[in-house]
Amino acid sequence: MFERMLVGKIENRITVGLISFVLIMVFLGWAAINEGGRMAAFAEMQEARAIEQGAMLFAANCTSCHGLDGRGLVGKAPGLNNPMLFGHDFFPEVTSQISDLNGEKSLLSDELAAAGTTDARKTEINTRITEIDEAIANLNAERLKDVDAAVQKGYNPNDGSYSRLTELGWSGTLDSFLLTTLIHGRPVSNNYWPDPMPAWSQTAGGPLRTDQLEDIVHYIENWDKGDNWTLDDLYAVQQFPILPADPAPLEAQIEELKASGGVAAVEVGTDVQAITAELASLTGDAAKGDALYHGQQTSGFGNTLACLGCHQANANGVGPMTSGTFTRASNERIAEPLFAGFTPEQYLIDSIVNPSHYVVPGFVDGMQKDFGQILTPQNLADILAYLETQNQ
Ligand code: HEC
Ligand code: HEC
Repeated sequence: MFERMLVGKIENRITVGLISFVLIMVFLGWAAINEGGRMAAFAEMQEARAIEQGAMLFAANCTSCHGLDGRGLVGKAPGLNNPMLFGHDFFPEVTSQISDLNGEKSLLSDELAAAGTTDARKTEINTRITEIDEAIANLNAERLKDVDAAVQKGYNPNDGSYSRLTELGWSGTLDSFLLTTLIHGRPVSNNYWPDPMPAWSQTAGGPLRTDQLEDIVHYIENWDKGDNWTLDDLYAVQQFPILPADPAPLEAQIEELKASGGVAAVEVGTDVQAITAELASLTGDAAKGDALYHGQQTSGFGNTLACLGCHQANANGVGPMTSGTFTRASNERIAEPLFAGFTPEQYLIDSIVNPSHYVVPGFVDGMQKDFGQILTPQNLADILAYLETQNQ
């Protein structure tokens, strides 16, 4: 009796345990799924906001040359809302037939050059190569004829030119192509367009910040239709890119863009004078600086900054408190002989990129030392704009 009760109790406990276990797993699973959902919704919202900002910037700065709808303006600038920019191939079967024919031709050419190939075989090979060349020329001509309406506006579906990136020999991503082109512009295009593509980044003397350029890139990329581009989209493009008669300067420019890594991530470095000169052409964004400082946004190199770990609003003993940083820089620090001739901003720059140069009294030389390498000039400009709000 007692034994049966005990067994019953244990079974009961096991059942209750099992049920709670299952419930907990269900809850955790639900929470995880929901977390994923919330993250995705958040990312979508961010993306939508970037596209919206990008659309406004595009309307204000780009439509005079690239057209209201991004489809280009005749004789002015090429379309960006354009299947060619996204590398869409309207004739994939023709492309693969041509590639097979080229494969066969290259094998035959090897055989032709090999020692021991008889004259009779050489004649056979030459005949076949002529046939192959004709077949390729016919396929190309056919393809050109099929999209004549676009070819009239400068489209060229042949030899990989259906993809703008292939045409230019760009091996990086579309993202990096767009961003670097926006940053540096294409000065040599004044050789083959009435006005060249200007440089837009403040780092290259233009009017826009890197984050604004990134928003424009999001806007342009939102035109991509993937596999759903139609010939109507192609015909709607008003102007396709043109290739200069002398390709050398453009090729050199593309090489330069490639060498710049495709992104704006340039180290700010540790030279206070050079940084001051560079920042003079940048506009800091205090909200971005706030987000960087508090680890809510990563630096141009993808680092989450740990400022908050050592500097909090009020004194925590690890690093000087954030509150009043700018006031202290202006009233106390630059009065130190070490900083004769420094502006408060230069003092802040120095404290961030050369933390051991001067150690604030009452603290140890414990600040992280590599900010010159993990911040871009724009990141530092944003952080300074934020620290300037700490003027209580
Ligand atoms: C003064 C006219 C002008 C303005 C304004 C202008 N562009 Fe351009 N853009 C051009 C020209 C011309 C080219 C073609 C350059 C070439 O073929 O090398 C071009 C090329 C580009 C390319 C590369 C396309 C390709 O196929 O190589 C992108 C991307 C681009 N522009 C984006 C923009 C954006 C975004 C803006 C606004 C922030 C803008 N452009 C403003 C004239 C302009
Ligand atoms: C590991 C701790 C640590 C981290 C991380 C850190 N700091 Fe500091 N920071 C300090 C300490 C300690 C001092 C005081 C000693 C000195 O002057 O080097 C200081 C000093 C400063 C000063 C001078 C303040 C004054 O009152 O004069 C500034 C400005 C500053 N840090 C900014 C930053 C920024 C911006 C970041 C993030 C990008 C950061 N720090 C990250 C520890 C840190």
